[in-house]
Amino acid sequence: MKNLGALVVCVCSLTTLAFLGCGDKLDPAPAGGDIDTSNGSTYCYPVKQILENYCTRCHASALTGGSRNNAPTNVNFDTYEAAAASAERANGRIQDGTMPPGGGVSQEEKDAFQQWVDEGLPEDCPAGVDGDGDAVALTCVSGRYYTGEESATMRPGENCIACHAREGEGPVFELAGTVMGAFHDEDRCVGVSGVTVEITGDDGNKTTLVSNSSGNFFYPPDDDRRLAAIAAIKTPYTVALKMGGKERRMSTAQTNRNCMDCHTALGTNDAPGRIVAPE
Ligand code: HEC
Ligand code: HEC
Ligand code: HEC
Repeated sequence: MKNLGALVVCVCSLTTLAFLGCGDKLDPAPAGGDIDTSNGSTYCYPVKQILENYCTRCHASALTGGSRNNAPTNVNFDTYEAAAASAERANGRIQDGTMPPGGGVSQEEKDAFQQWVDEGLPEDCPAGVDGDGDAVALTCVSGRYYTGEESATMRPGENCIACHAREGEGPVFELAGTVMGAFHDEDRCVGVSGVTVEITGDDGNKTTLVSNSSGNFFYPPDDDRRLAAIAAIKTPYTVALKMGGKERRMSTAQTNRNCMDCHTALGTNDAPGRIVAPE
């Protein structure tokens, strides 16, 4: 499953930069510690962290003028797309120790970067590893998997919008996802029903959906409303999940209405994993 990493702008490296002071002489950044790429080396892990440690304080698209320390303006490493476009050249300079200026990248990090290039620059996290490099055991707390036909309860936890678009079949949802029992529940694991998903659009309008027997929710909720002129959910939006007097909120406002681009079993784009029912 390909995620839309391009939608996320990395602010962390820029924040670090503010503290370091742009023109300061650079100390070697802390090495990445133990890196385990036995399941693969991807942008999500550990390449992004390596680039943030050593490169984005000069090579970031938001940096201009003197704050780039003369780094060429067309060579940036702050998004997947930019990093992939310059990956071969970056690898050459990392391996020969001339980038960052003065070197400092550990052998383990060099090997991980080389492996990423050799494996074809994959973007997503390797199986069983999250964006921090932590091993994650996948679960299914309901103990039940959906095995039925295509319907509103199909394939809980999977990317409804992406698959319907790819197959050219199934309803065109503006927003969709699954409320599940735990952050690392696997695809097709039956989620939690009866959870109210309240989405507040940028215009203040609230759209309220209720998760079905698989935990799935989607908008527009049925064909009648889809065919009628329905109100679009204005972005950026925020989310509150409600059940039995308990609440769980997404504090970060989002502009992408496809929840499952981020709330995968491992979590992408900094999401903690699944959308989990309040408890
Ligand atoms: C202190 C600022 C700074 C840091 C940090 C830095 N670079 Fe550079 N980079 C430069 C400058 C200046 C140049 C142009 C001079 C040169 O090519 O040596 C450059 C050039 C490059 C080029 C050559 C572009 C071309 O046209 O061929 C690549 C590739 C590159 N850097 C990759 C990296 C990578 C990968 C990292 C991190 C591992 C990194 N840089 C870290 C300043 C930096
Ligand atoms: C791997 C691909 C795939 C995924 C993932 C997927 N769907 Fe579907 N879905 C389909 C296809 C193909 C159809 C059309 C089936 C048909 O018309 O016979 C469909 C049809 C549907 C329908 C219409 C069923 C009907 O009775 O006409 C609904 C509702 C639906 N999907 C909901 C979802 C939801 C909600 C999700 C996410 C939790 C989801 N789907 C995930 C492929 C997928
Ligand atoms: C572009 C990525 C992205 C998309 C799309 C997204 N989220 Fe999130 N979500 C995050 C991130 C990052 C966090 C963790 C930070 C926070 O809580 O704001 C999060 C957190 C949450 C949480 C709180 C998690 C916790 O700690 O309990 C909920 C609930 C949630 N999201 C629901 C949703 C729903 C529902 C949708 C779709 C309507 C959605 N999200 C779409 C990235 C995303």
